[in-house]
Amino acid sequence: MIRPILRLGDTLLQSPAEPVGTITPDIERLIDDMVETMYAAPGIGLAAPQIGVSKRIFVIDLSVGRDLKALITMINPEWVEREGMQLEEEGCLSLPGFNATVPRPARAVVRGLDRHGEEHTVEGTGLLARALQHEMDHLDGRLFVDRLRGIKRDLIVRKVRKLARAGKW
Ligand code: NI
Repeated sequence: MIRPILRLGDTLLQSPAEPVGTITPDIERLIDDMVETMYAAPGIGLAAPQIGVSKRIFVIDLSVGRDLKALITMINPEWVEREGMQLEEEGCLSLPGFNATVPRPARAVVRGLDRHGEEHTVEGTGLLARALQHEMDHLDGRLFVDRLRGIKRDLIVRKVRKLARAGKW
């Protein structure tokens, strides 16, 4: 089921998500919904808080569904390694219409559980490293604007407030 995606301003997006206990059928359905919602958007990553569920789960698929092996599901992910730095433009499904250049690690390694409860490790450079950090941030209640310097952040937040006042957010 495609679920509505929360946008900047919703407090759930700014709260750290709760760890997943056991992987119940409800959790599996949640993951299915996250994947469907991500593909429909379309986007390359989605974290559970973005659809209003405070759970430490994210999905990433750089192929947006074109490559069946490209889908990454991470439950209760933890950092293993992060190194280097890259500066590229990025966006977020919770901030439609906005982009910014955000510093991210050049290489990132994350370990967590897959949807069957098996431990797995994902290593990425470039766009995947960026996506891993972006989604890990969501689980800690942080959006890409929170990684920007004051003036750049304020500019986006002001524009969002203006859109919200006009009923367009
Ligand atoms: Ni995002």
